[in-house]
Amino acid sequence: MKLWAGRFSKEVDKRTNDFNSSISTDSRMYRYDITGSMAHASMLAAKGIISAEDGKKITDALADIMADIDEGRLLIDPNAEDIHTFIEQTLTERIGDAGKRLHTGRSRNDQVALDIRLYLRDECGEVIKELNELIDTLSAKGDAYGDAIMPGYTHLQKAQPITFKAHLTAYTEMLKRDVGRVEDAAKRMNYSPLGSGALAGTTYPIDRAMTAEALGFDGYTLSTLDGVSDRDFCIELASALSLIMVHLSRLSEEIVLWSSWEFKFIELDDAFSTGSSIMPQKKNPDIPELVRGKSGRVFGDLMTLLTVMKGLPLAYNKDMQEDKDAIFDAFDTVKICLTTLIPMIDTMKVLPENMRKAAAGGFINATDCADYLVSKGLPFRDAYKATGEVVAACIKAGKTLETFSIDEYKQICDKFDEGVYEAIKLENCVKRRGM
Ligand code: ARG
Repeated sequence: MKLWAGRFSKEVDKRTNDFNSSISTDSRMYRYDITGSMAHASMLAAKGIISAEDGKKITDALADIMADIDEGRLLIDPNAEDIHTFIEQTLTERIGDAGKRLHTGRSRNDQVALDIRLYLRDECGEVIKELNELIDTLSAKGDAYGDAIMPGYTHLQKAQPITFKAHLTAYTEMLKRDVGRVEDAAKRMNYSPLGSGALAGTTYPIDRAMTAEALGFDGYTLSTLDGVSDRDFCIELASALSLIMVHLSRLSEEIVLWSSWEFKFIELDDAFSTGSSIMPQKKNPDIPELVRGKSGRVFGDLMTLLTVMKGLPLAYNKDMQEDKDAIFDAFDTVKICLTTLIPMIDTMKVLPENMRKAAAGGFINATDCADYLVSKGLPFRDAYKATGEVVAACIKAGKTLETFSIDEYKQICDKFDEGVYEAIKLENCVKRRGM
């Protein structure tokens, strides 16, 4: 029997029920639904809208329902219309008329808007925790190889020598901004829609501030129409999660490159690598590749949410039921990427000798050679040109800046002296840059 059966003369068709039902997605919100209902019932009793006795019966029975689901004594009916319906029906089966009073002054529209916010508030906390752990893991890796020198790239061409730590610090900075974005969106989301009713509030003398405070909100939504129809917070969070995936995907791309034989800057631990079914020599970086691939899901979730919302007239429309699949998937994906990447990075072996080798000999210190001439009084443009000539001569002679003789240097510019060899030492190059 449907909650709304009174107006209808027929049972709903199974296909309607299956199509309409959101229980497979929203059952994971059962604890939040129950917590919201307990706050609502307590407020109704405190305001004398229901009796104190009914209020207590409801909150006690809801606590039992939560414990029963938690411990597997009560199974969520997969044919129920949604989690709100299931909990209310179970409540009424257990305590009769008192259960039927719970929905006084409330609609599923403000109820679902509340549940998503409560659920996502905890999810934000989880993601922030994992982001901070990844930041710590990357910082620790950088610290452990504090003086390891590697080539820095632009256009994936060796550009200037940098430290491995400096490279990782770029990612910790990105991730710190990600933490800030999630915190910021979570703060904006933290207003209770409860009391918005279906769209136009309610005629009962409810106390919205009371439920908002009981549920840990910073206040309540001022427009009841907006309260039930706003999903900005889902879009903002999906956008913040998408940016997290951009960052994780870029880091993953580097790890894939670095673990190739061509680079061999790192080696992934066996426990975090996979093999090939045919090629016995293979050790594949499946984890970072999957993270790179899964970024597409999260961007898709963001696009889903934007598209679902863009044409909806106020206030609630059933289209909005699609919000949960998208935002839940985005959170699930980001969380699993973070919890897998963290131990993979923690256990990966860094090979500083290979990084150092890759940084040497590729004219990566040419800028420093030019800067050296500047220190000898040459204008930068002239120093740049002279160094360019040195590089061209080295390539022709099959030499590097380190093996080019002082006489050869002097032939190109008489400002060169023996000091150039100190100036172009990679260790000095990174030190001068404060890395
Ligand atoms: N399952 C619905 C959703 O997720 C709950 C709200 C139902 N409201 C309604 N007017 N049918 O959006």
